[in-house]
Amino acid sequence: MKTNHPVIIQGGMGIAVSDWKLAKTVSQAGQLGVVSGTAINSVLVRRLQDGDKEGHVRRALRAFPSQEIAEQILASYFIEGGKETTKGYKRPPLFSVQSPKPLLQLNVVASFVEVFLAKEGHHNPVGLNLLEKVLLPNLSSLYGGLLAGVDYVIMGAGIPREIPGALDLLSQSKPASLKVHVEGSAPGDETLTTFDPAAVMNGVLPQNLKRPFFFPIVSSSILAANLKKKATGEINGFIVEGPLAGGHNAPPRGPMKIDEHGEPIYGPRDVVDLKEMAELGLPFWMAGYYATPEKLAEVQAQGAHGIQVGTLFAFSQESGLMPDIRDKVVSLIVKNDVPPKGLVFTDPLSSPTGFPFKAVRLSNTISQPDLYEKRKRICDLGYLRHAYKKEDGTIGQRCPAEPVEDYVKKGGKLEDTVGRKCLCNALMADIGMPQIQSGGDIELPMLTAGDDLNFLGRILNPGQLSYSALDVLHYLLK
Ligand SMILES: Cc1cc2nc3c(=O)[nH]c(=O)nc-3n(C[C@H](O)[C@H](O)[C@H](O)COP(=O)(O)O)c2cc1C
Repeated sequence: MKTNHPVIIQGGMGIAVSDWKLAKTVSQAGQLGVVSGTAINSVLVRRLQDGDKEGHVRRALRAFPSQEIAEQILASYFIEGGKETTKGYKRPPLFSVQSPKPLLQLNVVASFVEVFLAKEGHHNPVGLNLLEKVLLPNLSSLYGGLLAGVDYVIMGAGIPREIPGALDLLSQSKPASLKVHVEGSAPGDETLTTFDPAAVMNGVLPQNLKRPFFFPIVSSSILAANLKKKATGEINGFIVEGPLAGGHNAPPRGPMKIDEHGEPIYGPRDVVDLKEMAELGLPFWMAGYYATPEKLAEVQAQGAHGIQVGTLFAFSQESGLMPDIRDKVVSLIVKNDVPPKGLVFTDPLSSPTGFPFKAVRLSNTISQPDLYEKRKRICDLGYLRHAYKKEDGTIGQRCPAEPVEDYVKKGGKLEDTVGRKCLCNALMADIGMPQIQSGGDIELPMLTAGDDLNFLGRILNPGQLSYSALDVLHYLLK
């Protein structure tokens, strides 16, 4: 199906790996840049506490429709010149089923800032990526994106059936709700999280915001067909992501089987039939180890509109990854200093979501078992907690990567805590904003990347040790 959508989508990469700088570069070049909205409120408050040295955040805040809200956030978090390097960051409150108004305001503003900056200075479209599994911030993130005129919303890590309808409502500044899965709740006992712009925006309520295109990320044509039929509003296209992609992967179909290296085994049932996708009549993009001009041409010949690419962009100069870590990985590849099993491990256990999560085998990160064991468990960002019914009938939240005793005390199963890692803190460390915990421990990073990382060298000319997002586009579109 031919459309005017861009051929290359730079995939959303949380937390702030695909930040506004990367997305802006890609969008300005005429393809689709996508910012990550995951944990974006924590990113905003840490940028402000680091002193917002180049002034970008404060410039975007001045464009927010309610200056009263923007100024409250500045007053709460901005530190002129940056916080003392030995001190930890002040954290915003954690999300709950009905989060307090200041937290919702912060999240709307944070998402607005990211999209605003990615769109600033050009007229090309920009996308916003969110995860269905990180449900509670999603409505306020979407609203912030809409206020900044976001053009595409792309969501995976779950089945985002209710998002299209929510986008229809929020673009009219009307309240929207999402069902919250509460473990242990009785059948028919429904819990909703609701976001009402009128209750959050201090009287500034823009109407007729643009309703962006919505692309769910799917791992099968059956799921795509189902979403097309049963979503609460219009779906405009699909990202079809396979198990070689960076970040979280859909689990293999059927019962999870593990190979001798401890990685999930995917089989023929996990391969998506492009013909079936094309028959759905909506444009689609292939993601997960498709980033070569040859594969692009191949999938286009089978009906795909283009490809979504993550790994190549994640290690480009414009990405939000800490330059030290990015350069270290690129230099390992250039020197061919790669472990025999490759740089990427698909860990079926590490993510508190229960989905397989790819980690780069890298020293000084919690992908190393000894460093993982040494870390004192703490859950202080809480994006990956899930809701459960307490004995008194109220709703609590727990994360399998939190301290084991706490998780078990909350009724969670001991076996669910084994091997779980605090992705929230590790991913904040990846972008150079690690928390300093009480006692002085600095949270360590853990990188994610797709299997494509092992072949990253193809993007570099001889002698080159870094590359830009534009190099990626030139390579793919040559
Ligand atoms: C560092 C990194 C972080 C990612 N984070 C997300 C994310 O937050 N949300 C998402 O939908 N996909 C995420 N992905 C997947 C990408 O958006 C993209 O679909 C995938 O990387 C494409 O496959 P490739 O890595 O072979 O190019 C991430 C990928 C990487 C490499």
